[in-house]
Amino acid sequence: MPSQNRFGRRNFFGSSIAAAAAVAAPAQDTFDFDTPYSRVGTDSTKWDAQIKRYGKDSILAGMGISDTDFRTAPVITAALQKRMQHENWGYLTMPESFRESIINWNKRRYGITIRPDRLLLATGVHPAIISALRAFSPVGSKVLLLTPTYDGFFGDISAAGCKPQECPLKQVNGQYQLDLEALDRRISHDTNSLILCNPNNPTGNVWSRQELTAVGELCTKRRVVVLVDEIHCDLVTKGNQYTPYSLLENREVVNNSVTFKSASKSFNLSALKAAWMFSDNAEYMARIAATGHSGDINTLGVVAAQAALNEGEPWLKQLISYIDGNHEFVAEFVGKRIPLLKYTKPQGTYLGWVDVSGLIERIGASEKAAKLNQGRPAGARPVTAEMVVQDFLVKQARVQINAGTNYGQAGTGRMRMNLGTSRKTLEMALSSIASALQKV
Ligand SMILES: Cc1ncc(COP(=O)(O)O)c(C=O)c1O
Repeated sequence: MPSQNRFGRRNFFGSSIAAAAAVAAPAQDTFDFDTPYSRVGTDSTKWDAQIKRYGKDSILAGMGISDTDFRTAPVITAALQKRMQHENWGYLTMPESFRESIINWNKRRYGITIRPDRLLLATGVHPAIISALRAFSPVGSKVLLLTPTYDGFFGDISAAGCKPQECPLKQVNGQYQLDLEALDRRISHDTNSLILCNPNNPTGNVWSRQELTAVGELCTKRRVVVLVDEIHCDLVTKGNQYTPYSLLENREVVNNSVTFKSASKSFNLSALKAAWMFSDNAEYMARIAATGHSGDINTLGVVAAQAALNEGEPWLKQLISYIDGNHEFVAEFVGKRIPLLKYTKPQGTYLGWVDVSGLIERIGASEKAAKLNQGRPAGARPVTAEMVVQDFLVKQARVQINAGTNYGQAGTGRMRMNLGTSRKTLEMALSSIASALQKV
């Protein structure tokens, strides 16, 4: 197995974008997810921001923020290159064909019918959720989150002037489950919305029809609007199936929801800023539009997302299978070689939710966090044991993964590891973690 020294002090892949571009193109109808593709030197959050934060030569693998390291689908690059040949970037009138691509993709893949007059474009799922919160949740009111869940929701809630109300998922034999009684108890007169993530980042739960219906019926009865973030829905592991919330049988439940989607996770287009939201409920969509919501997507974002939706399915199919293999690989590697960690293959997403409670205990991370918190100014975000583990893994293994407590109180004892990368990178990162943990 490769040791830390073998890779030297430089990033394993070197830092030249030009070198990365020289990687051989995939064979005609198969795509190359296996050749590591360096993102260093491109201002990437996953790699460059960590190098900036932790120092030069500090990062062997960036496995934090939720994007992937692969070259995108060749059809997307081709469409962008074609548009680049026309050297004018003036105002864009949104082509009707873009909306059609979104509607067709959702119909073809999932049987979802989106009415064009109930579809709004957005420059990301974040701005879309913020607009929806502005429509349904008055300033100062509470927004429910089933935690652990995506940390960005906390920022969206704050941007809308609301307060997050965490409702922890139950852990049964290491698996996360809904706690409907706890959810019912947490709804009060000033709870107007719940953000539901399906598949759930970071636990990977792909919620079943029964689970979605149960949450939906409770929220409908208690007059809480359900904002359903399905950005990770294409990425489910073998044997699991995504149920679109908008296809639940109970029409009253569906009418009380808005769904948020994008091609950005599946095709790695996050920085191109294109997303959409829809609802069967015309009044809900009108209320969101009335907040002044902007769907002003930039030209390249439209071109890329449209190419993905129209022509990207063969690439996506192979990606889904590759990610499934990555989860299997990590489960086996951790099971055999990293006894201080526990890993269960998730139902969906390219994110791994690693149990680090053994490591926390072994390195005294809770005590270290308590010490660091002494004398911190009142109101400062407290350091958690999981943040200590994050820094520990960067220092000892040069691998950056995210503290579980970023995803709510219920993320205690866990870390989120992004597996959206080549298997070689995964092996290198896990080998480095394994050898670091042998020493503690
Ligand atoms: C569940 C979820 N929703 C939304 C986002 C962000 O979406 P966007 O980049 O379209 O604003 C992410 C990104 O990680 C996510 O995981």
